Amino acid sequence: MATCYRNIATLVSPAEAVGELTVITDAAMVVDSGQITWLGKNSDAPACETEVDLTGQTVIPGFVDSHSHLVFGGERSEEFASRMTGKKYEAGGINSTVSATRKATADELRANTAKLVQELYASGITTFEIKSGYGLDVKTEKLLLEIASEFTDEVTFLGAHVVPRGSDPDEYTDLVAGKMLESITAKWVDVFCDKGAFSVTQARKVLTAGIAAGLKPRMHANQLSNIGAIALAVELDCASVDHCTFLEDADIELLKNSQTVATLLPGAEFSTRSPYPQGGELMNRGVVVALATDCNPGSSFTTSMPFCIAVAVRDMGFSVDQAIWAASKGGAMALRGQQGVLEVGVRADFVVLDGPNHNYLAYRPGVAIISQTFLQGRKVYERR
Ligand code: NIG
Ligand code: FE
Repeated sequence: MATCYRNIATLVSPAEAVGELTVITDAAMVVDSGQITWLGKNSDAPACETEVDLTGQTVIPGFVDSHSHLVFGGERSEEFASRMTGKKYEAGGINSTVSATRKATADELRANTAKLVQELYASGITTFEIKSGYGLDVKTEKLLLEIASEFTDEVTFLGAHVVPRGSDPDEYTDLVAGKMLESITAKWVDVFCDKGAFSVTQARKVLTAGIAAGLKPRMHANQLSNIGAIALAVELDCASVDHCTFLEDADIELLKNSQTVATLLPGAEFSTRSPYPQGGELMNRGVVVALATDCNPGSSFTTSMPFCIAVAVRDMGFSVDQAIWAASKGGAMALRGQQGVLEVGVRADFVVLDGPNHNYLAYRPGVAIISQTFLQGRKVYERR
C-alpha cells in the first residue's frame, strides 16, 4: 500500500558530487513496499491510499554510521571526567573496558547493545556498523561478533584493537591473524594502527590475513599520532581509514587518489580534547569524507549523529551540506554500500526533522530535532 508524505518543507538528498545536496522545497515523497516510488514537488504528487502531512518539516536520508563499538561491558565516566581536567587520552584505557566486557554475561552485553541501537534510531541512523574489540581473546571476540550480527550485517572484527594486558605484542598479533581470525565470522577486518596500539608492520599482518580469509579491510589510524598508516590503508584498498586527526599533505594526496574514505569522528576529538581535523578542507581538496559516531565507552560515548554534525560544522570546517553528505552518502561509501540517498527505487530509510530545513541539524545543537525515523518505510522511532 502506497503512502504519500506531503507538504514536506524541504527534502534533501546527497548528490554524486562530494559534499553537495539536491534540495527540493515544498516536496512530497511516495513509499510503497519499503521503497521510494516517487518524489518531487508536492503539487505534482500522485494520489495515494494513505497520506501523511509533514507541513513545516524536513525529510533527509537515514544517516549511515560506519563506525561504532556498541558491544561492551562497563563504562568509563571517571576517565572522561579526569580528561576534562587535564589527563591525556591513551590507547591503553581500552583494557579497562576489556576487563568489564569479559566479566559481563552474553545477555547483559546484548541488552546494552539493544539499548544503544534504539539510541541510534532516535538519532536518525538507519544503517550502522558494529565492531568487536573489547574481548581480545578468541572466545570473547567470537561472542561480541555474534551479538553484533544480531543487529547489523556490517560486522567488523577488531581483535587488533590494543594488545591485551600481559601479552607480548608480536605474539598477540599472530594470535589475531591466526587462530582468532579462523574462529570468527565477520564482514570487515579492522586494526588500530597508532602509538600505543599496533605498528604498521603488525597492522599489515592482520589486515592481509583478514583479506586472505575473505574479509574486507578498514582501519583506525592517525588518532594519536602519524606513524605512516594512511599509506598502508590506501595500498590495501581499505574501504575507510578512521579518525585522521593527524594528517600530512602527502596523506591527503594519497587519499585523494584512492577509493579509501577518510572517516572523521567528531565525538572522539570532543571527548578526548584533541584538535579537530579540518574535514571541510579535506572535501574541498577532493577527499571523500564520512562522519561517524565512534560510539564507545572510552573516547566517544555518543550515539548522536546530529551532535557530530553540529561539531563538524562548528569546529571542523564543514558546511552544513558537506556534513550531511558525509553523515549519509559518505558513511555509505565508507561501507562500500548504496544507502544514504533518497531516490526513486532505493530503500525507504529516511528521517523527519522537526524544522523547516536541514540547517536545523547544526543550528539547533543539543536539541532532539529528529521527530521520526523510518527503516524500509517502517517507523522505528517517533519522538514523544
Ligand atoms: O575509535 N581508537 C581506538 N578505539 C576507540 C577507542 C576505544 C576506547 O577508548 O575504549 C576509538 O576511539
Ligand atoms: Fe573507533
